[in-house]
Amino acid sequence: MAVAWGHEGHIRDAFAGLICSGDGSHGDGVEIEYFCCEFEGFSKPIAVISGEEEFGAAHLQAAGDCVQGILLIDVNRGVDKVIRRQCVIFKHIGIGHTIAVVGGDGPLLSRVRFDEIANDLTDHAARVGLDRLDVMPIAAFKDAAPSEGGRAGPDVISAEKLFELVAKDQPQAEKGDFRLAVRSVFRGDEMVLEGVVLGGTGSMGDPVVALPSSEIADIEQIEIEGAVRERMQRGDRVSLALSQAVNISEGQVLSALSGRPEVADQISAHLIWSDGAPMLPGRPYLIELAGQKTVATITDLKYKLSFDNLQKIAGKRLHKGELALVNLSFVDELTFDAYERNAATGYFVLRDKISGASAGLGLIRFGLRRATNIHRQAIALDVAARAASKKQRPCCIWFTGLSGSGKSTIANAVEMRLHEMGRHTYLLDGDNVRHGLNRDLGFKDADRVENIRRIGEVAKLMVDAGLIVMTAFISPFRSERRMARDLFGEGEFIEVFVDTPLDICEARDPKGLYKKARAGEIANFTGIDSAYEPPEAADIVIDAGHVEVEKLVDNIIDELIRKGMLQA
Ligand code: ADX
Repeated sequence: MAVAWGHEGHIRDAFAGLICSGDGSHGDGVEIEYFCCEFEGFSKPIAVISGEEEFGAAHLQAAGDCVQGILLIDVNRGVDKVIRRQCVIFKHIGIGHTIAVVGGDGPLLSRVRFDEIANDLTDHAARVGLDRLDVMPIAAFKDAAPSEGGRAGPDVISAEKLFELVAKDQPQAEKGDFRLAVRSVFRGDEMVLEGVVLGGTGSMGDPVVALPSSEIADIEQIEIEGAVRERMQRGDRVSLALSQAVNISEGQVLSALSGRPEVADQISAHLIWSDGAPMLPGRPYLIELAGQKTVATITDLKYKLSFDNLQKIAGKRLHKGELALVNLSFVDELTFDAYERNAATGYFVLRDKISGASAGLGLIRFGLRRATNIHRQAIALDVAARAASKKQRPCCIWFTGLSGSGKSTIANAVEMRLHEMGRHTYLLDGDNVRHGLNRDLGFKDADRVENIRRIGEVAKLMVDAGLIVMTAFISPFRSERRMARDLFGEGEFIEVFVDTPLDICEARDPKGLYKKARAGEIANFTGIDSAYEPPEAADIVIDAGHVEVEKLVDNIIDELIRKGMLQA
């Protein structure tokens, strides 16, 4: 298949007019139309993609199998930002042959302008490493080029030339080894798996391996839409009977035994960001990869790539539309391929953890093996044993609120009260942590994310040690509070929202920081020019603007007793 992409408007209409002799049909969603290009007995589908700026999973699904890319260039716009970016995307999704069609300004085209565009594009393609490029007009020329020896009159370019290039191009070999995304598992007399073939082909009798368990069986029967078949290929929805039961569940991958995919919890990938909110390293996102789902964080933004010349640009965050090379780490191990090996198991979608909206799209380059030699130490003494020796139920009481809301004061007072009750506690707060462990961090969004990530991990270790831990940090973002919560077991994490209105915090201004922030002497100050996202479902909300501290402490202790965290 070939994919056509580029400028919208006249050029797209002109192009669609050229190929609509084939079967025009709408594919999944509205963004992609599938046509069929036929020439001298050859026939090839073309996916025509709309949307100049967007780039999402649907685009990649259409383009993932393609070796040819058709670039639609409006003669009035030339090699602009959209086209430059498109070339880089073609390069990264493995398009081996780019055919640029230029037109869109009515039936006649200026030859001089066409030549200018062809030169610009050739230069850009060389800069970004596009291997094979053909540039052609899709309208007749109105002015003959001087090099043509004065031959005047329109040089009529028919659709045939384009079709010849597209249809006669080498068909792509069946890419990759057999991969099945498992949708459901039946364990009866024999094991039956239902799923979708994501790559390669499979036949009766083939040995297969379940991942990540690595258990092996043979394919005993293939059924497609109720009929028994000898063979299956990419795109088939199949039901497979296996020679013996293997350890596999819904959302995992079954693979050919030879040419296995990788299994790892860290990867290197090219990431294209599509969310209006920038990507922050350290923030947790949902990841979907070949039917598998878990939580991923970007551990390292290596560099961003310029769409103009692939130059590497340093940066701490990734904005909408930008492309970068990143490392990611997953909460669970995932099964995947490098994108160039198998497009369907080589890309992933990241989603916002709170809204579920798609936030970024990644092309996997390789798995990182760093974590394989670090096995979590299985420790004989567990949290229950440590907690029992302290006669308490360990937990993390997480205070969040604006600067000056009273978090530290209240957390201190709660700790005193717990101490009087004979409990073993520890208080982590901004002063002791930002001067030591986190002294390398400031107050930009990315630093705050990392601040909270580390605090969550430290609190987790302390809860493991059997302590009742209190944390008093602004922790302004929902995502990171959720990340902290997810580190703990059910009921072990109690979020306390110290709900003091901004005007009261500002009036108190214990450290004079609001005044400085208003005067522009401190940048990124929470509540002034940096966001605070109030909790939507805190376990405890306290009105620290009006109620005195001892009363608030009573409320919190009562609530902890009511929740079974403390015995009176
Ligand atoms: S957090 O946002 O990363 O959770 P943290 O609680 O560690 O912040 O630190 C907040 C404290 O640092 C504030 O109470 C205040 O004393 C001080 N501070 C200094 N600069 C800022 C700033 N730009 N925004 C908020 N607090 C700041």
